[in-house]
Amino acid sequence: MNAMTNEKIRIIRANGDNDFAEKAFAFFSRKMKEAEEEHPLVILPTGFTPLPLYQKLVQAYVSGEKVLGDFTYLALDEYEGLPQGDYRLFSSWLGREVLDGLEIPQERRIIFDSESASIEQAARHVKAVLSERPVYLAVLGLGNNGHIGFNEPGTDTETEFQRVTLTSETISANAAYWGGMDKVPTHAYTLGLATISKAAETLLLVRGEKKAAILRDVLAGGDIGAVPARYIHAQDNVTIIADDGALSLSKFGFED
Ligand code: PGA
Repeated sequence: MNAMTNEKIRIIRANGDNDFAEKAFAFFSRKMKEAEEEHPLVILPTGFTPLPLYQKLVQAYVSGEKVLGDFTYLALDEYEGLPQGDYRLFSSWLGREVLDGLEIPQERRIIFDSESASIEQAARHVKAVLSERPVYLAVLGLGNNGHIGFNEPGTDTETEFQRVTLTSETISANAAYWGGMDKVPTHAYTLGLATISKAAETLLLVRGEKKAAILRDVLAGGDIGAVPARYIHAQDNVTIIADDGALSLSKFGFED
């Protein structure tokens, strides 16, 4: 599959972590206020990139902006084979960083079952919820290798859910979260691009100079198999919030 450069993609440039958090927060809180459905489905990513946003969301929620916690969280991806409660589970991580702070009840956390032996079992709950309602907002991070969720380069772009073998690049990037390659599972479950691309609205967050080359490659468009994040060119409502470092190699018109 190939993607043409999409002039409709909105790029918002941020100057530093505070500005990044402010801009991502403004976007997210506007979307929550505009939501018509009760508890709309929202995908949130793990990773270092969204942490300034999560901190700000929790602060604002605690100060009284209760609308920020009105959503249903839908998992983007999860490691395979970790026991319930393991600190490395993405559901645990997002709980610590944002979902607990926003008081999202367990029944509004739609997650993969890491202990399942197959993608069919692991994604059963996620799939059942998605068959009833669409994703309102997909907030995503960008992998160093262009992955979205755990849709790694070479992924089948038509798949709805999949079990993946993590690339060595992703395992070493994830080692930074858990203090060593040996702590990173080798397999994972993820929503496929066919599911992620059905979100009504997409917010891609990119932070740091080490993402500059991959963000340039995403924005240039081209083969989605090679750089999965290029799928955004075929989407209607995409906003990228990226900092100066991440945009340092891209020659696009930005909004500040
Ligand atoms: P990062 O991860 O935010 O820690 O850079 C992003 C990703 O791998 O999707």
